[in-house]
Amino acid sequence: MKKLLVVVFLVLNVVLLASCSGGIDKKKIGVIQLVDHPSLNIIYSNIVDEFEKNGYSSDEINFVNCSGDMNNVQTAANTMQGNSTEVVIAITTPVAQACFNLAKNKPVIFSAVTDPIAAGLLDDLNNPNNNITGTSDAVSISGIMDTALTFDPTIKSIGYIYNPNESNSVSNLEKLEAYCAAKNIIINKSAVYTSADITLATTTLAKKSDILFVTNDNTVAEGMKILANTAIKLKKMVFVGADSMVYDGGLATVGIDYAELGKETARQAIRVLKGEKISDIPVKVYDTNLNTYVNTDTASALGITIPLSIINGEKYIPVKTLNEVS
Ligand code: TRP
Repeated sequence: MKKLLVVVFLVLNVVLLASCSGGIDKKKIGVIQLVDHPSLNIIYSNIVDEFEKNGYSSDEINFVNCSGDMNNVQTAANTMQGNSTEVVIAITTPVAQACFNLAKNKPVIFSAVTDPIAAGLLDDLNNPNNNITGTSDAVSISGIMDTALTFDPTIKSIGYIYNPNESNSVSNLEKLEAYCAAKNIIINKSAVYTSADITLATTTLAKKSDILFVTNDNTVAEGMKILANTAIKLKKMVFVGADSMVYDGGLATVGIDYAELGKETARQAIRVLKGEKISDIPVKVYDTNLNTYVNTDTASALGITIPLSIINGEKYIPVKTLNEVS
């Protein structure tokens, strides 16, 4: 009897192992996400929804969340190089850049890369030349700054917090510099390399700047709630580069709906799975149909009246802070 049990146990193990590895082998869609923050999570869940809507199962997706660690990104890219993955989806600029070499062998679709050319991914958005294409969330620096000046036309200085290792934020800074030079506004910069640097950067810059400004920087997004709370205590308006950062307590942005961008990323990957060449799939840039998101909780905490011209705007979306931290 004992022997029989042992045999049954061994057989079961073999069956289990076989089905597991069979499962992994079947996974033809690889998705690498840089870090856990609300905007990227929305993008990923919409990618999955769109795959499912088109008849794919989530079992076919090998999802790796890298916890903001570039070593994890590299390991994931190396693993996908060697396994059954047929198309790799790279969420964020740093992940897309880390997949550049992988693209020599496997097609890569990036998701939410702010400035794909500045990131060195390709030379022409309409003619992807490196086996890599995708969706871009170009930030409307002038739209956000015009809105900031509607809130306060007397702004003379801006505090810009960013991770200089994120080429998306460097590209946004260059646009901001051009905008501010034309309007005689000074930019004070502070670099953050992890979200742990955010409180100090916020406090320092708030003291010497009329407003704070952050774009769609992944390091900042990770610590956005802390940044927003610190700024509210110091009575500073924070203008941001993504809707999720308004939901996290930033005052306002002019920007896109990331759910739609996530869905389009999946549709591009499906085209590749069906045999289309990357060079025939232009980058899809999301820079029109922008909404003006304003956090009404933050506005009241700051004692600010939201300008009527903003409230009456056709694309005005008032939001409340989600999941407040104390
Ligand atoms: N655009 C960012 C990048 O290029 C990724 C991103 C998407 C993001 N949504 C965001 C960053 C919201 C911060 C906040 O890497």
